[in-house]
Amino acid sequence: MRTPLLAGNWKMHCTPTETAALIQELRASLGDYDQREVLVAPPFTALATAATELDGSGILLAGQDLHWEDSGAFTGEIAGPMLTAVGCSHAIIGHSERRQYFGETDGRVALKIRAALRNRLVPIVCVGETLEERESGQMTDVIERQVRGALGALDARSIGSSVLAYEPVWAIGTGRVATPDQAQEVHAAIRALLGEIADADAAASCRILYGGSVKPDNVDTLMAQPDIDGALVGGASLKAKDFARIVHFQS
Ligand code: PGA
Repeated sequence: MRTPLLAGNWKMHCTPTETAALIQELRASLGDYDQREVLVAPPFTALATAATELDGSGILLAGQDLHWEDSGAFTGEIAGPMLTAVGCSHAIIGHSERRQYFGETDGRVALKIRAALRNRLVPIVCVGETLEERESGQMTDVIERQVRGALGALDARSIGSSVLAYEPVWAIGTGRVATPDQAQEVHAAIRALLGEIADADAAASCRILYGGSVKPDNVDTLMAQPDIDGALVGGASLKAKDFARIVHFQS
């Protein structure tokens, strides 16, 4: 019922020339796939090149962030209408690297989600606990605070069509992946929370991706979990063959 979404977050990697080469290799490696959505999020400066290279492929394009206003005196920022104009259909919001290094707060995440929805961009909203928070028993509270802070004021329809990404901070870029059971437990808890914040339909249709060291050799068991609806992939999305294998997960 929920179409799996396999999303590549390229982070601060790839010039336009490198982007063109990676997308060409990805298209060649991917071959045919159906009943799943594939998305890439290159850096802002490579989005136009990416849009050209993706033409006719069906692969979706996302910005890695956006500003909460649609225009204005915000030096260095990128607005929703700019992402839409360059061909993006999605925007990643509240990635833990933005929360950790750039002071992203739950309040700003909520504003950015509104900006995305206003501009017909599907928000991919990232939540997740640090190792310290997990080990001190605060995981559930932290994730609930992040999910409520991000989506709490939205109507059920918007929540149902949004994408969440559960990314335990300790699993990002570390090679230390959450076990399928650990991930499933949190995904199920998030879905139950969505039922409280919105309603049962929204909870059932909102896709919840797992992120954090997803690789070809662990994607199958993760995707076999009932509440894991896709993956947000960092490092492995920069290798065309690895990402293609992730897209072709078997479960
Ligand atoms: P990773 O990154 O796959 O390199 O761990 C995931 C992410 O940050 O979205």
